[in-house]
Amino acid sequence: MTLAYDKRVIAEDLSVEIPDGSFTVIIGPNACGKSTLLRALSRLLKPAAGTVLLDGKDVHSQPTRTVAKTLGLLPQSSTAPDGITVAELVARGRYPHQSILRRWSTEDEHVVQESMLSTGVADLADRHVDELSGGQRQRVWLAMALAQQTPLLLLDEPTTYLDIAHQIEVLDLCAELHERQGRTLVAVLHDLNHAARYATHLIAMRAGKVARSGLPAEVLTAELVEEVFGLPCRVIDDPETGTPLVIPAARRSTGATV
Ligand SMILES: Nc1ncnc2c1ncn2[C@@H]1O[C@H](COP(=O)(O)OP(=O)(O)OP(=O)(O)O)[C@@H](O)[C@H]1O
Ligand SMILES: [Mg+2]
Repeated sequence: MTLAYDKRVIAEDLSVEIPDGSFTVIIGPNACGKSTLLRALSRLLKPAAGTVLLDGKDVHSQPTRTVAKTLGLLPQSSTAPDGITVAELVARGRYPHQSILRRWSTEDEHVVQESMLSTGVADLADRHVDELSGGQRQRVWLAMALAQQTPLLLLDEPTTYLDIAHQIEVLDLCAELHERQGRTLVAVLHDLNHAARYATHLIAMRAGKVARSGLPAEVLTAELVEEVFGLPCRVIDDPETGTPLVIPAARRSTGATV
């Protein structure tokens, strides 16, 4: 694909494959095109050249509702409509499942409840979204994406704003969706160590290109981190999981006195 905003080309000759049933994690420096790629995959952005194939068919030629039932997107930043409550926003995830013949059902109610429980926002159901903390709000948007119940879920930085415990909780939830329900997940993460722990397939991007992709243990080397982020580091085995653990090099003293 070529991905561009008007004349500004962000990525050229970009080719990405999301393995079916994988928990794919995308890493890469700010502005390298991660969100742009997710937008293209979820048909919010039409590629200037090339196609996005969803189960072999061009996503841009499929009806919106069909795509919305297959693929859910948690964007990097979203603004909730004024005055909307948590429960109302999460319920919007059920829109693709509604029709003139099929209105709100107990099944919808159940899915909304489950989504709020699994993301820890059930207690906030009646609160206004615009008066929540950043981390609470992030989990409400995740609940909405879950309520959509799509087999494919694209998450753009789902752990931003979350404290360390909530980060792990959200990633564990993602791993569970992937393992137990066989859903295909694609998440953009900035924490390389989390990426290494949770990904079954890792894609490292740099300047609109895939620098390397494959198993975390193959992709996440000190050379790759230096090449992609320009950061000198060591990569050791995570003592908990054995996956790569990136330790940035200590700041070298310049000898200058302040
Ligand atoms: N709507 C837009 N119009 C024009 N340029 C844009 C638009 N959105 C993003 N860009 C540009 O496209 C490039 C890639 O942006 P993108 O949001 O995909 O980066 P990213 O890898 O997700 O970065 P981050 O880690 O900061 O979220 C950047 O140079 C950005 O300025
Ligand atoms: Mg982004």
